[in-house]
Amino acid sequence: MKIVVIQGPNLNMLGIREQNIYGPMKLEDIHAQMKAVADQSNVEIEFFQSNLEGEIVDRIQECIGEADGIIINPAAYTHTSIAIRDAIRAVSIPTIEVHISNIYAREEFRSKSIVAPSCSGHISGFGPFGYHLAMVGIIQIMNELKNLQQSQANQEN
Ligand code: DQA
Repeated sequence: MKIVVIQGPNLNMLGIREQNIYGPMKLEDIHAQMKAVADQSNVEIEFFQSNLEGEIVDRIQECIGEADGIIINPAAYTHTSIAIRDAIRAVSIPTIEVHISNIYAREEFRSKSIVAPSCSGHISGFGPFGYHLAMVGIIQIMNELKNLQQSQANQEN
C-alpha cells in the first residue's frame, strides 16, 4: 500500500514563515516523522510539494494506479481551488485534508474549504501533529477498504 503526501504553496517555508501560527518545525522534519510511521506500518510513502496549482492537479492525477491514499495540505488553494477539488473527486482515492492551523479561528476567508467536500476527512488546528493524525486516519481507511475488497473477492469465488 502507498500514501502520497501533497503539500501546497508556501509549505516549503515552514520553520521560517509566521512561526507564531505554524511553529518552528520544518517540512522535512514533518516528513521524516511521517516516514517513520509509514515504515512501522509497512506502507510506502512519497512526498511532493509545489507552489503551483496545475502541478498539484497533475500530481493528484498521477496517483491513479499508484496510491491507495492521499494526504493533502492544499494551503492557500484550499480556499480557492475548484481544480484541486475536482482532481481529488476524479481519482476516487481516499484523501485526508490537513491544516496546521485552525482555519476556522483565523480570517473569515480561511473558514471555507473548497477542497474538503472531496475528502474523506479533514484535520485542522493540531499543528504539525495533524499530519500524524492524518497518517493514522488514512492507514485505517486504506485497511478497511482493502478488507472490504478482499471479502468481496472471496464472495465472488
Ligand atoms: C494552511 C492554512 C491556509 O489558510 C494557509 O493559506 C496555509 C497553511 C495550514 O496548514 O494551516 O498556507 O493550509
